[in-house]
Amino acid sequence: MTEWASLSRETQSPKARTMTVDILSDAFFDSLSSAAAPIEHAETLPPACYTDAGFHAFEKAAVFDHEWLCVGREAWVANPGDYFTTHIIDEPIIVARTRAGELKAMSAVCQHRAMLVAEGAGNARGFVCPYHHWTYGLDGSLIAAPAMERTCDFDKARFNLPTFRTEVWLGFLFINFDPDARPLSPRLTALTDALAPYDLAAAEGEKPGAPGVYPWNWKVMFENNNDGYHANRLHQGPLHDFVPSALATFPPLPPDTAGYLRFNGTTHRDASFNATQRALFSVFPGLSEADRHRMIFANVPPTLSLVVGPDLVIYLIVRATGPESLEMDTGVLVAPGVMADAAYGHKMAMAMAAAMQIVGQDLHVDERVQRGLRSRFAVRGRYSWQEGAQSAFNGWLTPRYQAAWARRRNGEAAPR
Ligand code: FES
Ligand SMILES: [Fe+2]
Repeated sequence: MTEWASLSRETQSPKARTMTVDILSDAFFDSLSSAAAPIEHAETLPPACYTDAGFHAFEKAAVFDHEWLCVGREAWVANPGDYFTTHIIDEPIIVARTRAGELKAMSAVCQHRAMLVAEGAGNARGFVCPYHHWTYGLDGSLIAAPAMERTCDFDKARFNLPTFRTEVWLGFLFINFDPDARPLSPRLTALTDALAPYDLAAAEGEKPGAPGVYPWNWKVMFENNNDGYHANRLHQGPLHDFVPSALATFPPLPPDTAGYLRFNGTTHRDASFNATQRALFSVFPGLSEADRHRMIFANVPPTLSLVVGPDLVIYLIVRATGPESLEMDTGVLVAPGVMADAAYGHKMAMAMAAAMQIVGQDLHVDERVQRGLRSRFAVRGRYSWQEGAQSAFNGWLTPRYQAAWARRRNGEAAPR
């Protein structure tokens, strides 16, 4: 999957936007309610939500510090000692499987002088910081710190790597920086039910290669992933026409949902993104006839988007890195056993050739949307009914923004 990285875009923004007018005010947050209105009445978020460094700092505390963040697949740490590293909102992360088989997520930041204690992925007995060889267990506990015997009041137990909560949903591994966050899965029932026939926990796929690096706000990426309106417009042509915008439907969601989805009917059974427009791999075995005549576009903000077809799931792990930058891990999942097909690599190359073309069109738009959002002439736009997932996204975002702002105004502690 390393090809995805080749679609990375050079940063067009010459400088990070560090000089900003403070836009955060009661009036600003009140104005966000119109983004979460029913789609016929809704308007888009203010452009500053996508460009402003001050807003991004607020958003990190309001959203990213408390929501479940997808960091990978549980299968990437299948065996004791397996680990991988990643990062999101400037936090370097290690995910590891302990000798006892427990899943652990922790900061990669050495508690001595902040060197990162691990990089890449592999299998290890623990983590030895390369700088001065402080040694941590797979659970983050500090096991050894050389030549510290003369250091007064040095209590090794106080220098473990900070650990984070983990949760696995359909094989996707999430972390949460908030120790008091509510569990995720009970608030994903709409997605869990829709995706049950695909049995994604058992689905297989290689760990993605290098991430794509993109110069736009994470919400621009999410909104593109959400967007059924552009499907047979931007992507008009033989690789995409079988999934027309007019066949988009938006199922009702529970009030406290942590994710949302769109069904999009296809013009024929077992359709898939490649030049044949047909499934190249065995379809997921549990699918109904209805499943075989549609695709599902599911989102668990602020990090995970799924493009679900009868034979192939593409997952996108969006990792915000700044107000106008992100990284994205792009992986694929197929039904168990499919990867054993001798022609698997050839078929996947066909599928990826089509996906790269489609994704390339999206990335071009994303880049230029971000440029547009920086303009003084960018406005709060209006939506088509085919953009129902955008108001679902706004309905997830704006109460979080507004609640965090209210708490800040009231001088309350961090949101729970
Ligand atoms: S910074 Fe890690 S041992 Fe010194
Ligand atoms: Fe697209």
